[in-house]
Amino acid sequence: MINIKSPREIEIMRRGGKITSKTLAMLIDAAKPGVTTKQLDELAEQSIRSMGGVPTFIGYNGYPASICASVNDEVVHGIPGDRVLEDGDLLSIDIGTTFEGYVSDTAVTVAIGNVSEAAKRLMRVTQECLMLGIAQMQPGNHLGDIGHAVQQHAESNGYGVVRALVGHGVGRKMHEDPQVPNYGRPGEGTLLRKGLVLAIEPMITEGTWEVATLEDGWTVVTEDGKLAAHFEHTIAITDHGPKILTLRDVAEHPDVSLFRPSEEVAA
Ligand code: MF3
Ligand code: CO
Ligand code: CO
Repeated sequence: MINIKSPREIEIMRRGGKITSKTLAMLIDAAKPGVTTKQLDELAEQSIRSMGGVPTFIGYNGYPASICASVNDEVVHGIPGDRVLEDGDLLSIDIGTTFEGYVSDTAVTVAIGNVSEAAKRLMRVTQECLMLGIAQMQPGNHLGDIGHAVQQHAESNGYGVVRALVGHGVGRKMHEDPQVPNYGRPGEGTLLRKGLVLAIEPMITEGTWEVATLEDGWTVVTEDGKLAAHFEHTIAITDHGPKILTLRDVAEHPDVSLFRPSEEVAA
């Protein structure tokens, strides 16, 4: 069942989204060589709680942390731990906050120190996939328009689109209907309308789109060991089109460049 949100609910989600995006902006700046993923997780939990939110991920199907921290060939759901980030790593950070009963969910992939040109291109194209998907969130469009836009851009750049995991509706629960695949055909699927709130989250790979889950039961990796990137926003459809509820402030990110999250500039 699809839950349509009232303007009042969307306003709560916008305030919650601010907690999530401010926290993610802080984590992006903290993600440097020598830092462990557990340190980032601790920073995230403190930050979310200091602003009156609750980390959504802790306890979700038994998940043990506030963020997912996925490195290199890890696509999503990496569990924070003692792994020390190294120069050249690609780190995907996914974070969710519950605020006044509503969830916001957002993710980025960032470079740790200096990364290869190939890694930079993968990050850039994946972020572009997200923005192209968001641009399709117009009343009267269909769900397939979103997936098609994402898939078209990824595949025309020679990349794979992960099929095993999808985006989703978001609201009182992190995962609501409808599912939002990162592939699809134009004009097909659910009609998009005002009040629909979706998490769009392309997971794009350098090689095969096939993935596997590690023995920890969570970490999703590429089958061929090649790199993956993941960007996500929580977005509401309004009369005027998409409103990104997890947008980060340019003011908080004076160092925004092509290879750091930069949708504030692109939007
Ligand atoms: N935030 C993820 C998503 O984008 C789900 C994380 S699962 C959790 O849908 F267990 F880590 F919370
Ligand atoms: Co997420
Ligand atoms: Co999500």
